[in-house]
Amino acid sequence: MPVSTADRYAVIGNPIAHSKSPQIHAAFAEQTGEQLIYTAELVEVGGVESFVKEFAANNGKGLNVTVPFKLDAFEIATELSPRAQRAGAVNTLKLHGDIIYGDTTDGVGLLNDLTQNHQLELKNKRILIVGAGGAVRGVLEPLLLSQPQQLVIANRTLSKAEQLAQDFSSFGAISASSFEALAGQQFDLVINGTSASLAGELPPLPEQLFAAEGCAYDMMYGAQPTAFLNWAAQQGATHCYDGLGMLVEQAAESFYIWRKKRPETRGVIELLRSQL
Ligand code: ATR
Repeated sequence: MPVSTADRYAVIGNPIAHSKSPQIHAAFAEQTGEQLIYTAELVEVGGVESFVKEFAANNGKGLNVTVPFKLDAFEIATELSPRAQRAGAVNTLKLHGDIIYGDTTDGVGLLNDLTQNHQLELKNKRILIVGAGGAVRGVLEPLLLSQPQQLVIANRTLSKAEQLAQDFSSFGAISASSFEALAGQQFDLVINGTSASLAGELPPLPEQLFAAEGCAYDMMYGAQPTAFLNWAAQQGATHCYDGLGMLVEQAAESFYIWRKKRPETRGVIELLRSQL
C-alpha cells in the first residue's frame, strides 16, 4: 500500500480512546475539502516532547492536546500565542520545521458556543464561574473581554480562585468567592468549570443563584444532563447547556489555525449529540 503523503494531525492524551476529535476533524476536512489524516494517539506520561518531534518528522502538521498534557505542550512550545501565554496552557500545536507553535482555543470555543450557538449576550451580565483549575484558567480572558458586569470565580479551595482573580484582574471586573459567600447573590449565567461532573458530583452551591432568565452552562457533557445541569433546572435556570458545543467550537478554531478555513459547526454538533 502506498504511504500517504497527506498532512497528518492528531489529538494526544492519556487516556485517549474515547476522544471525539478524530470524528470532528474528519467532518471538518470533508466539509472544507481539505486532504488530511487525523488520529487519536495515546502518549506516555513524560513522552510528549519525543512524540511531537517524531510526529513532526513524519508529516505531522498539528496536534490537539488534552488531559494531562496541556502544561507539557505549553512547556515544549518554541512560540506561544499571547492568549496561550496568559492561559498557561496549550491545547493546539502547529508544527513547521523546528517550530512548535502553541495556542489555546478552549476560551474561544466556550465564547463561540455561548454567543453564537446559544445566542447569549454577555456584556453587562453577572457571570459566576465555578472551579479554578486549568479548564477555568483557559476561558477567563475571553469571558472578561466580553465585558460582563462582573465575573466571580467560586472554588472549593478559595486560594486558587483568588490567585486566578489576581492574575486576570487587568482584563476586567473579576473577583473570587467561597461557595458559602455566594448566598444571596444572583447571576445571569453560571458556568460549571469543575471536574465534579466527571464523578457525578455537584459543587455545594447555595440555592437561588439564578437571576430571572438566568442560564446554566456545564463545560462537561454526556448522554444525560450532568448533576450540575439537573440541579440548575431544579433551581429555575431558564436554559441549561452542556459543553458539547464548546468541544466542537474549540476544534473548529484549531482547524482554522492549521488550515485557515473555518468549518461550519452546527451540523457536527448535532451529529455528535445524536450519537451520545
Ligand atoms: P481541570 O484541568 O479540569 O480544571 P483541575 O485543574 O484538577 O482540572 O481542577 C479541577 C477543579 O474542579 C478544581 O477547581 C477543583 O476544586 P479544588 O481546587 O478545590 O480542588 C474542582 N472540583 C473537583 N471536584 C469537585 C467537587 N466534587 N466539588 C467541588 N469542586 C470540585
